[in-house]
Amino acid sequence: MKTMLVTGGAGFIGSNFIHYVLETKPEVELLVNLDLLTYAGDLENLRSVESDPRYRFARGDIRDRKAVEELFDRYEFDTVVHFAAETHVDRSIVEPEVFLTTNVVGTQTLLDAAKAHWKTEPDNKYSREYKPGVRYLQVSTDEVYGALGRTGKFRETTPLAPNSPYSASKAGADFVVRAYRETYGMPVNVTRCSNNYGPYQFPEKLIPLMIHNALEDRPLPVYGDGMQVRDWLYVRDHCAAIWTVLEKGAPGEIYNVGGNNERANLEIVRLILRELGKPESLIEHVADRPGHDRRYAIDNTKITTELGWRPAYTFKDGIAQTIRWYLENREWTERIVSGAYRSYYERMYGRSAG
Ligand code: NAD
Ligand code: DAU
Repeated sequence: MKTMLVTGGAGFIGSNFIHYVLETKPEVELLVNLDLLTYAGDLENLRSVESDPRYRFARGDIRDRKAVEELFDRYEFDTVVHFAAETHVDRSIVEPEVFLTTNVVGTQTLLDAAKAHWKTEPDNKYSREYKPGVRYLQVSTDEVYGALGRTGKFRETTPLAPNSPYSASKAGADFVVRAYRETYGMPVNVTRCSNNYGPYQFPEKLIPLMIHNALEDRPLPVYGDGMQVRDWLYVRDHCAAIWTVLEKGAPGEIYNVGGNNERANLEIVRLILRELGKPESLIEHVADRPGHDRRYAIDNTKITTELGWRPAYTFKDGIAQTIRWYLENREWTERIVSGAYRSYYERMYGRSAG
């Protein structure tokens, strides 16, 4: 892991991952961040590393075959960590197409470039030999498994049953990765993580959206009865899990990532209000999300027992740290909600974003 391509590094988890690697992994000599800078990408998230000699930014589209190949020619990556994606379920409901092209075709484009550059005999279509030490990691999601009832957890063997255009596109990408393993013998891994929270999360997602609205004394829009359950993990723990899989994961394996931390949405919203000293009367139940998955929960036995990863943050500490970060960095959210995000919010919730 000397020369690493990180895609989507200007987004929430990607930027946290870049900070994590540059701070804690001196063995990485060069990290190139390929990001299109869609509405969700923000170079502000990386301001503190932009002059780090081990870091480079390349603006580009993962669907642009020529641009991706040129990057591989130039840097000869030995590791790819693929975060770039369209990621918001609500947007996928109103605009599915870009989810399919970015998440599925973008993944295939990256895999093709990696395959061409990593094979020991690039011209031999039947060769399954790769340069030593190369690795492609697909950052997937627990949403590919669909929804759970009151009991049970997602295991790596749970059949995929995605319910939104977003999760369908992520499942499609996972199948492409699987096919490149089975057909071409590529050294790949897939990680499927539960909901992340932490600094730099775009304020369309539950936790930063609710913090922002509460700070502005605006209604907190809870979908349906608010009893949907998510399994929350602090983003830095997700970054450490990805690193663990890169280091110790067996080629071709899938690893679920989660911290056994199930919470109903209403519990999260109430906690945020309590922490910020705001009244529960700000909660507003709004129309439910179509196809809304009722419950997610990750069985993390494989990554904990086989690779030794464990979350380092308790929810109590992680959420307190997260709320503090949004309080101390209010201008970060203000900049976003004053831009193009304003019209999205109006379309989605029928009122201004503040
Ligand atoms: P995000 O929406 O915050 O960031 C996505 C990034 O990808 C942005 O910087 C954007 O500019 C970039 N991007 C989008 N389309 C691109 C394209 N065509 N070419 C190049 N760059 C492009 O996403 P996130 O929440 O950080 O999620 C990162 C990855 O982790 C995604 O693959 C997502 O499916 C997965 N994931 C997210 C969570 C979560 O809770 N957020 C949980 C599990 C898995
Ligand atoms: O599980 C991993 C997934 O987590 C990732 O793959 C996705 O990229 C990420 O967006 C996230 O998906 P969710 O749909 O679970 O996250 P979101 O923050 O959009 O919503 C969390 C829960 O809160 C969900 O049950 C819907 C609810 N919600 C969300 C918003 C934005 C509300 O009740 N009101 C809201 O305004």
